[in-house]
Parts: sequence; C-alpha cells; structure tokens
Amino acid sequence: MTPNDLDALLRETRTFAPSEEFRRQANYSDESIYEEAARDPEAYWAKEAEHLTWFQKFESVCRWDPPHAQWFIGGKLNAAYNCVDRHTLNHRKNKAAIIWEGEPGDSRVLTYDMLRREVDKAAHALKQLGVQKGDRVTIYLPMVPELPIAMLACAKIGAMHSVVFGGFSAQALKDRILDAGSKLLITADGGWRRGKVIPLKQNADEAVEGTPIEKVVVVKRVGDAANAPMHAERDVWWHDLIAAAPTKPFPAEPMDSEDYLFLLYTSGTTGKPKGIAHSTGGYLVGVNTSMRTVFDLKDDDVFFCTADIGWVTGHTYIVYGPLSAGATVVMYEGSPDYPDRDRYWAIAEKYGATILYTAPTSIRMFMKWGPQYVEKHDLSTLRLLGSVGEPINPEAWMWYHKYVGQERCPIVDTWWQTETGCAMIAPLPGIVTTKPGSATKPVPGISVDILDDDGNPVPPGHGGNLVITKPWPSMLRTVWGDDERFRKTYFGKFEGIYLPGDGAYRDQDGYYWIVGRLDDVINVSGHRIGTAEVESALVAHPAVAEAAVIGRAHEVKGQAITAFVILKEGQSASDDLVAELKQFVVEQIGAMARPEEIIFAADLPKTRSGKIMRRLLRDIAEGRVVGDTTTLADPAVVEQLKSQYKDQE
Ligand code: PRX
Repeated sequence: MTPNDLDALLRETRTFAPSEEFRRQANYSDESIYEEAARDPEAYWAKEAEHLTWFQKFESVCRWDPPHAQWFIGGKLNAAYNCVDRHTLNHRKNKAAIIWEGEPGDSRVLTYDMLRREVDKAAHALKQLGVQKGDRVTIYLPMVPELPIAMLACAKIGAMHSVVFGGFSAQALKDRILDAGSKLLITADGGWRRGKVIPLKQNADEAVEGTPIEKVVVVKRVGDAANAPMHAERDVWWHDLIAAAPTKPFPAEPMDSEDYLFLLYTSGTTGKPKGIAHSTGGYLVGVNTSMRTVFDLKDDDVFFCTADIGWVTGHTYIVYGPLSAGATVVMYEGSPDYPDRDRYWAIAEKYGATILYTAPTSIRMFMKWGPQYVEKHDLSTLRLLGSVGEPINPEAWMWYHKYVGQERCPIVDTWWQTETGCAMIAPLPGIVTTKPGSATKPVPGISVDILDDDGNPVPPGHGGNLVITKPWPSMLRTVWGDDERFRKTYFGKFEGIYLPGDGAYRDQDGYYWIVGRLDDVINVSGHRIGTAEVESALVAHPAVAEAAVIGRAHEVKGQAITAFVILKEGQSASDDLVAELKQFVVEQIGAMARPEEIIFAADLPKTRSGKIMRRLLRDIAEGRVVGDTTTLADPAVVEQLKSQYKDQE
C-alpha cells in the first residue's frame, strides 16, 4: 500500500447500504442466511448442491481428513452437462449462453443449444484423437469461443483441462505441459492484441519439443499459417476436426464428485508453478452458489467478466459459474484500449451488460484515462459491479461507484484465489453495507479468521494471517503430482487450517481488510508472480551472478517488479543489458513478468545466515526510511544500494 492509499483509507469513511430498490429484488436480503449457513455448513452446502443436476445423488456431504476434504461423496455428475445440456431441456434452450466479441469487431453468439452442438462435436473429435477420461489436455488459446468449447468438451469426456494463459512464453507453456503430462495441446495460429498478432502457434511449436505431446489441434483465428506452418504428422486444424466430427449428441461421462475437473497453474514461493487440482462436484457447487449469492444472478442478467479465461477468474466467472447457472456471458477477446479507450463500455452498452466484473488495476487505468470514455456510453443496464484480483484502493472504489455504477450499483469486492475456486470474502449485495476498500465478510458457508504466527486469533485492528478454518466444497484438492507441497504450503503452518498466504485485519464491525501477500509472491496487475520464478529466469542469463526480486508499489499495476542484479565478474552494466535482461525474463515467463526496473548492485542485503532481506529492498525501491538493519551481515550494503538505486533511477 502506498502512503497515498493509506491516506485515502483514513479519509474514506463513507459506507454504502444496499438501496431499497436493490434489496427488494435481491436473491438474498435477509441476514438469516449467514446464521443458517454457520449453524450447519454441511446442510447449507447440501441444499445448494440441489441446484445442480446429479446423475446419482451423493450419499454424504463432507469427509474431512485434514488436509484432504471430500465433498458430495458418492455423487455422480458431469460439469459440461450441468453447464450446457441441461439448459437445452428448458426455457433456456435458445437463450444466449456466450456472446463473444473479437478484438477486430467480429462477433459470435452461441445459444445454449448451439453451444451444446459445438461442445459435442469437439468432444467427439477429441475422443477420436485418443483423449480419455482422466487424461490431461493443455489448452493455449486466445479469448475465442473455441476456448470454453474445448474446456467443456474435455469436461464432457472426463478429461482434465489445463489452460495456460496466452501471455505465457513457450518455456512457461513447456514447463506446464511437462508437469501435467499432457499428450494433446489445443492452440491457435495466433490471437489479436491491440491489432497485432500474438504468435501462439510459434510458441506452441517451440514448447512441445521434448514433451509427451503427440497431437496439436490448431484453431484458425488470424490466418497466420505462413509464420506457423502445420506439421503434417502432428498438427491438425480444429475446423477440419469439427467438420468431420459426428453430429450426434456426445454422452456426458458420469464423473465421481471427487474426480478432478481441471488443473490450473499458479505461482508460489519456489520457482516451480503449482498445478492446482479442482474437483468436479465441490468446485461446481461452490461456483454455482456464488452466482446466486455474491452476484445476485437472475435469468435475464448479462454477465460481463473482463478476465482472461487463462486465469481462475475466467474459469469460474466466464465458464463454470455463469454457464452452470444458465446465464448469458459476454466474452471479449482483446485489449480495453483498442481501437479506443472506451472498448469495455462500448461492449457493455452494445450487449446490455447488467453485471460487470473487473480488476482494480483496470479501474485505476480507467481513472488515469478519465471519465469521458465511460460517459460516452449508456450504461443504464448495469445493476451490479464486481472487483477482484487485489485489494481495491478506496479512490478506485469511489471512481468505479461514481462513473461506472452511476452511484446506483452495489460493488462486490471479492477476495479469493486460484486455490479457493470461488469468492470467499465478499458482500451479499442485498444485505451487506459496503465500505470502500474492504471485501467485507466471508460468504455464507465459509469460516474465516485472522491468526498471529502462533495460531492465536488477533483482536480487531491488528494484522495477521488470513485463514479459512473449515473445509469448503470448491477448495483445491491437491497440488498436481506433489501432495506434500499441498500439505506444506497450505496446511503446514496451522494444523487443519487453510493458509492462503495473505495478510489481513478485521475492523470493529467485523469487516475484513486484505492487506496483500505475506509470502514472496507479487501481485502485478492482479497476476500472481513468484519472486523466485523471476529470479531463476534472471540467473539463467549468462551475465547474471545473483538476483533478488521484489514487488514495489505501483500506481496502476498495484505492484511492479524491481530486480536487483549482481553481474558476473567481467560483465559491465549498460542500458542495453537492462533491455536484454527484461526481454530475457519475458522469454522465460511471459510479458506480465517483465521487470519494471533492473538495478545493478555490487552486493545484496543478507542476514548472517545468507537470506536476502527483501523487506529492505522494498524500503529502498519505495523510497522509505530503511527498516531495521541490525540482523544484516554487512549493514553498509544498504547505504551503498540506496545510492546506487538513486543513481540508476
Ligand atoms: O493476494 C490475494 C489477491 O490475489 C491472490 C490470488 O491470486 P490468484 O490465485 O491469481 O487469483 C486471483 C483472482 C481470484 C490472493 O491471494 N486477491 C484476489 N482478490 C482480492 C485479492 N486481494 C484483495 N482483495 C481482493 N478482492
């Protein structure tokens, strides 16, 4: 948090109670839901589970054998059936499921019935390519309709998808393919971003070398075959497969509630990303419930989530949440400033979005651009706004409220993670009075606390470790291939209690305020990046001896990456080397990990046991008085670094 944010936090004391008009139409407007769920969480979740279609009803609700939970035991269901097929059997058959807009302005609407046919053809095609229940399929696609179709086709077969965000590099894609052990990759010839082609196929070609990938399915999006020729033995066009696929319905595989639905990789405190494994039944019950509670979803809502499906927000709030609830989702391929800075608002107006879900980093960017882009459009259909990805600073909250919500729409600030599957701390908009900057209270059925490092609850106003004290349906089941890491990372500090890695405090009214990560994970524009990942990318460069990476406060991105680098003997610092190192990180990880600045240092502040003191590096980068240096092996290092930092700024 910057000193400015802190000021705003101290100044902003307004609270926002739900309007009478919103409350009257809300799915939940009575506090008793909280007490009811707290009294008997299992009974609460069992009741919510009835909103799904089960091929076989579960026998018991939860078995908790810390750190492993099972939910809806004995139940059988299929996620794709729940997201698609079942809606074609009722009044939603011809309702728009996905309204898609491409960056160049092309668009496509898929009704539930059309989506069912597309998913079924894709499932037939994948099955013919050898994909079976339990297999992993890696998907590296831009934001095109084939992405949710491919995910749902996997789900229909019972194969796990592992979607890799299109902004990741070839190397990052390769690491994730190898970890998941996928034999099939689905990609595209490219994607559009600010009018330029993102060379996905080239990255894919590079990534699959030396992996178990046998087949690469290629969606034609940009017509860039010249730059990414097809490999006759290995590559096949998506459209050829679909054209040849049987048109008969594909029978949904009855999955055990605990069978995995997907893997999604996220950064941790080591260089190796974690494959977060989500279950079928629990995940789907969790995400489906949050559509009704947090998002107050109605049948006529048009839900516009601006996230990329490559991240968990897109998995949960573009694909599985809205579709399992039979909603209409708006999906946009490209950049918010293409062709102009009003693109989101133009889309919201064009399709009559009623709910908008975006990230604080985007809101801060909109603030910088000015309200004129929002004001150009008629946003009167909007009735609810959401925020996710990082703490929202009160100024951004107020701006969102004033210009986008036109002081009419409640804002749900939703705290959650890849691991939690769906929103955990967020207001129910018809009940909870909001305070700008606070995600408010845990949602019904979720038990949260703040503990000190010894495991004692802290009093109001005191910071500590945010924890989730009871299992919940959509919690991750394991880290793929490394259950020990799952146990240690999330349940190693407090026995039987889930540790998200975030710091938080509770105010006198019991509201939660998330402060940020307590571990070595940086949140850049809502993307989680491990300092260790960037450090290992940097030291892989021949000129670099050692690197320490920190996140420093950034006006728009929330945090930006600052890398302190010690060069090898004989190497000399230069602007060219700075540019080269930044590019090197982009090639190893992806553009979102590009360091904002690289500071060449002669030495790094370390404790006597050799641990880099990142806290001090942050103090230097944020221009603060440097904190306690008494545990340093050589306190002079800090003074030297401070002057180097100033010189190079
Ligand atoms: O630090 C928290 C922050 O984002 C982390 C989770 O990142 P990821 O798994 O990539 O998922 C992002 C989308 C759910 C959390 O540990 N975070 C997310 N939402 C919020 C937040 N911090 C504060 N307020 C939020 N609303």
